[in-house]
Parts: sequence; structure tokens; C-alpha cells
Amino acid sequence: MSAVQQIDQKTGDIAALLLAHYDVHARDLPWRKLPGQGLPDPYNVWLSEIMLQQTTVAAVGPYFRKFAQTWPDFAALGAADEADVMAAWAGLGYYARARNLLKCARVITSDYGGQLPDTEAKLLKLPGIGPYTAAAISAIAFDRRAVVVDANIERVVSRLYAIDTPLPAAKAEIWAATDAITPDVAAGDFAQAMMDLGAGICSVRNPSCMICPLLVHCAAGQAGMAEAYPLKPPKKAKPHRTGTAYWVQQGDAVWLVTRGGKGMLGGMRALPDDGWSARQDGDGVEPFEADWQILPRSVAHVFTHFTLSLDIAVTATVPADIELGEGGYWPLKSLDKAGLPTLFSKVAKAVMARGES
Ligand code: ADE
Repeated sequence: MSAVQQIDQKTGDIAALLLAHYDVHARDLPWRKLPGQGLPDPYNVWLSEIMLQQTTVAAVGPYFRKFAQTWPDFAALGAADEADVMAAWAGLGYYARARNLLKCARVITSDYGGQLPDTEAKLLKLPGIGPYTAAAISAIAFDRRAVVVDANIERVVSRLYAIDTPLPAAKAEIWAATDAITPDVAAGDFAQAMMDLGAGICSVRNPSCMICPLLVHCAAGQAGMAEAYPLKPPKKAKPHRTGTAYWVQQGDAVWLVTRGGKGMLGGMRALPDDGWSARQDGDGVEPFEADWQILPRSVAHVFTHFTLSLDIAVTATVPADIELGEGGYWPLKSLDKAGLPTLFSKVAKAVMARGES
């Protein structure tokens, strides 16, 4: 078999295997018609797809039932008061969806005789309907061939083909691959079967590859690498900050301060420093004039949003007339009881270790 024939075989098989699986395992959702039961009411499909944007099937269920019962078609919803629709939507979030829902119902009632158009191009012109929703409605409600790609389908397809481009750059590739496996008939069932697969077997973590109907064709699954897909973009590099901590020692004690309440490590006991923060380097200005010795090694620390390297300046000569401000000398032998954050414990360790290397 040639490589091209193998690809054709794979793309054709995927739809057939998936639809056969869906025949038996389709989730019975309130807006759905199960395979073999005919096409669902376009109003129900539209209503559910708007509600399912950025929202889980579990959260949508009760809202869908309430809306479909209160306003069973476009004309009923179009005639509703906006305040009532918004109140019924309360708790579902992303409230622009509810305002667009009502707008759309009114346009369908006034301009389309209460009938939702069936093509993606016409659906796209309606309020609240973007490319994904237009494709989903066209396929599910009207059995037209459309390429439907939501986050679940994105995950399934990126695994089927082990797509090594990270998201979001991979979107075009994933769309093309989904196009290649979308059948000419039953595109709506195919899309919903892919969604169900993504919501169940092909989950983000711990996918159940061993019971997946598509395992034979799944490049990532075959390699035991399903969980690695889709690839995420590399994490943004954290900004790097520099600063200086000041070690002021008198006999067997070191000067500690308590940091300001609202800032970084606020309220924690600490060594005095030069004002470094997540947003800026420290100013390098010593707290008073003295014979400062800069240690050859700085201390590195990783915070959630930035990395820090802290130079350490040490002095044991504190001028008599110096006012150190709030704080106090802390005995070195019980420094481990001072509750210093890790960053400053590292500094203390470095100071204690000086001369050892
Ligand atoms: N998510 C978005 N649309 C869906 C549908 N029709 N079935 C299941 N999950 C979905």
C-alpha cells in the first residue's frame, strides 16, 4: 500500500470507527438527538452552543432546560424582556452572550421568519456567532459538512497526528487535519463524537488510550505520548532583577528589619536591602557609609514572577552616630529562629560560609 493510500485509509477509518463508537456511547444531552433519531431542533442546537461557549456541559444542563422551557423558540425568546433573559442567565457568566442571544433571537424572528439559516456564511453574520459556533450549528442542526474544532477536538486531533507545533501556532494545522478526517455525511454526529471523545477518553490528563476506538490510528497514543499533546507554547521567560542585601554585624549579632506590610515578603523579618522588587532592580545605595565588603558570590532566587540575584554587602564597622531605623540585632546562634524567608536564609548561609571555599 502506498503512503498516500495509507493516509486515505487512516482518514476514512477514523470517521467510521468514531461514528460506530458514537452509535453506542453518545452522551444523552438535553439538546441532542441520539444517532438514528433524526436532526435536533435548530433552536436547541443554537441555544446550547451559545451556552457551551467557555462553559462546561455540566454547568449548562440546568440553564438549557430552564431557557428551553420558558422560551421554546426564537419568537418566544425574541419577545422576552432583556431583564428577564439576563436574570435567567445569572450565574452562567460571560453576560455578553446573553445580550447577543436576545439580539440574535430578535433578528431571526424579524428577518428570517423564525428559522435559523443553515450555512456557516449566513450564521456568521448573526450576533454572538463566531466561526466555531457557525460550523457546529451548521453541522449538528442541518447535517451540512462543516469543520468543527473546539478545545476538545483540538486535543484529539493534535494527538492523532502527534502535531509537534505548539498552540496557538498549531491551529491551522489542526484545522486542516480535522478537515481531512471530517466525513461528507454525518458531520454533526462526527463533531459531537469528537467532543465526547475529548471530554471522556481523550482527557487532558490520564487519557484512557486502551479503550479508545481511535488508538490504532493515533500517533501519540501509539507512542504512549498522548498526554504530551497538544504542545503548549514555551513559558514566557521571567524578568531578572538584581539587588543587594546588607549584612550589618556587631559582635555575634546581625541587624534584621521587618519588611513593609504590603510589598514583596511583607511583614517578614529580613536583612536590610536596596529596594529591589518584582518591577525594578535595587538602587545599590548602601544604607550608610562604611567599609562594605561585597562577597564574591551572590545569591539566586526564583519567585513566581521574576528571578533575583542578590549581592551581599557585609560590614562590621557601624559608625556610632548611625540610626539604623526600625529593627534590631539578632543573635547569630539563633538566626534559624528568626523566621527569615528562604531568600534571606540563603544570604545568611553564604555569609557564614565565607572564607570556607
Ligand atoms: N461542547 C460544545 N458543543 C457541544 C456539543 N454539542 N456536545 C457536547 N459538548 C459540546
